[in-house]
Amino acid sequence: MSPYESDPVDRLVGAAADDADQAVEAALRPKLLDEFIGQERVREQLSLVLRAARKRGAAPDHVLLSGPPGLGKTTLSMIIAAELNAPIRITSGPAIQHAGDLAAILSSLTEGEVLFLDEIHRMSRPAEEMLYMAMEDFRVDVIVGKGPGATAIPLELPPFTLVGATTRAGLLPPPLRDRFGFTGHMEFYAPTELEKVVHRSARLLDVEIDPAGAAEIAGRSRGTPRIANRLLRRVRDYAQVEHDGVIDRQIAARALAVYEVDERGLDRLDRAVLDALLRLFGGGPVGLSTLAVAVGEEAETVEEVAEPFLVREGLLARTPRGRIATAAAWQHLGLAQPPHAPGGRGAVPGQQALLGPEPSA
Ligand SMILES: Nc1ncnc2c1ncn2[C@@H]1O[C@H](COP(=O)(O)OP(=O)(O)OP(=O)(O)O)[C@@H](O)[C@H]1O
Ligand SMILES: [Mg+2]
Repeated sequence: MSPYESDPVDRLVGAAADDADQAVEAALRPKLLDEFIGQERVREQLSLVLRAARKRGAAPDHVLLSGPPGLGKTTLSMIIAAELNAPIRITSGPAIQHAGDLAAILSSLTEGEVLFLDEIHRMSRPAEEMLYMAMEDFRVDVIVGKGPGATAIPLELPPFTLVGATTRAGLLPPPLRDRFGFTGHMEFYAPTELEKVVHRSARLLDVEIDPAGAAEIAGRSRGTPRIANRLLRRVRDYAQVEHDGVIDRQIAARALAVYEVDERGLDRLDRAVLDALLRLFGGGPVGLSTLAVAVGEEAETVEEVAEPFLVREGLLARTPRGRIATAAAWQHLGLAQPPHAPGGRGAVPGQQALLGPEPSA
């Protein structure tokens, strides 16, 4: 299972969308490529693809967008349709369980329409095979009848553009991946980009915020616009209840302290894991299950919910002998790193080898 898919939806710093996010996201989505913040490379490449298609007056190549949740894949797919001035049909892998479900959608597309297939890695195998032919030849074989009497009726499709989105590009079978003319890999956002996202959303939500307040929220948003927008809404609540509604650095910091999101975007669980690793186990190495017992959580929760971000931030490393903390972890919790801790000045020579390749999860 993906670490993202196991992110509990009620987690303030989780990247998956909860109901409240879904309710406001439509209003916060940039509508055109020029309004889309960051992702310089994907934006530039996509802009070329779209301009060339417009010039030719034809539907552009199929587009695959891959990357962690909340970085703007759905947003970009809607932008693609808007930029092409084309209608968009939205569906998702889990919604297409039978090839017939896909045939029904494909056969009702109009010329130039954009078909957005979210979570494309979760489509069923028979549907996937139908999709290959549709993408390549704009044709599907509709099977009529059952058993020996079944016949395949070929059906021509109008040219359309498939936009697939996935958090797990590695799970896509190569024949499917190869049929996309363009793949955009979404990256985590830099803090300065997230500041722009926060300012933009504040304007749309009619919230007053100063640059230092936006920077404070951006720095705690884990490189993810969805989290930035969610933290902004929580800080807005605090500012309205405890203050005059205006957000500055101090209000943002105080509000996020109430919600237990620290300066680096770590929440209570993340900090508990780090804290146990440092204080109880001297920075490791310690086994996952021991660490999990120490924080009173399931091993899977520690591994799939807390660790991915701690590893990404360079605070924790997974080694063949167990979990170890890095120097940055000691610093972040404001603790002095003992000389003999992993990575410490007095660490035994060769201990660096512990920082070997991550075990594949
Ligand atoms: N580049 C951006 N500029 C401004 N806002 C953005 C940007 N990218 C994402 N957002 C905001 O973040 C929210 C989440 O984005 P989106 O739904 O497109 O993510 P996603 O990649 O489709 O996530 P998931 O994998 O969960 O489907 C949107 O409501 C949008 O407002
Ligand atoms: Mg999405």
